[in-house]
Amino acid sequence: MQIISIVSPKGGTGKTALATALAVALAGRECRTCLYDLDPQGSAARWYFNHRLPRNARSMNGSGTWPDRPLDPLVMNRIADPARAAASILKDVEASEEAGRPLEWAVCDTAGGAFGTLGELAVLSDLLVVPLLPSVPDLATIPKLHAFTASLETSPEVAAVLTRVPPRSGQRTEFARQTLADAGLRCLAASIGQSVLWQDAYEAGRSPQEMPFWRSRRAAGEIARLLDEIITMTSSTERKSHGRHVSTETAGGAQAVAR
Ligand SMILES: Nc1ncnc2c1ncn2[C@@H]1O[C@H](COP(=O)(O)OP(=O)(O)O)[C@@H](O)[C@H]1O
Ligand SMILES: [Mg+2]
Repeated sequence: MQIISIVSPKGGTGKTALATALAVALAGRECRTCLYDLDPQGSAARWYFNHRLPRNARSMNGSGTWPDRPLDPLVMNRIADPARAAASILKDVEASEEAGRPLEWAVCDTAGGAFGTLGELAVLSDLLVVPLLPSVPDLATIPKLHAFTASLETSPEVAAVLTRVPPRSGQRTEFARQTLADAGLRCLAASIGQSVLWQDAYEAGRSPQEMPFWRSRRAAGEIARLLDEIITMTSSTERKSHGRHVSTETAGGAQAVAR
């Protein structure tokens, strides 16, 4: 069981786009995946419930109900209180194991700058993925991210991903990569290009790689390379969701996650 959380100090960096694309990519590789929506705006949940929910399957809910007949290994759970996300995930893992269909991946989409409530989830996550545009306002948020991870009891693995990279912006991208390196923040080699395909895919309840081939080839390649890197990174770390218990009393405190 691996947990990745898509976080960022600001909104509009492509968190939801990335979360949905990675969840679909994992499901496409036959991994039982739950996409968690922790953002009060509910963009990932809207994407899922408007289009994807098979008529005869239920989504997971707060009580950890696993769909009776998942037609797609991707399910969704919307979590109203992000501070309880870690506890909910562990509960879902248990429920899925009892149902004989153990959850293999959790992909958590979070609200921009919601760090105050994400401590427990961040500590439980195998990887925090931080989408950033290669632009100065996004790069300027790196200290906030560092302050957040430094405040945690144990530092999670963190990787930035350049998203919405405009065409012909090689110099800008190089500058962003250098800025991230100087700040000591790992940046994945794969990046996501700017394309209206991402908007069209969201509105269709799809991921870019599910759009017609002639439009989606480039984005599908980017997502696949990104997922390969994420899988390599998380498979080399200790699986955190095993043997951990999350206190359900102290909502939000990073210290509440204990072995
Ligand atoms: N690679 C991309 N190319 C073009 N538009 C994108 C891309 N990724 C996201 N978008 C669009 O940018 C906006 C913000 O993306 P979103 O994923 O909702 O960001 P966040 O969840 O970080 O607020 C949305 O309209 C989305 O469709
Ligand atoms: Mg979002």
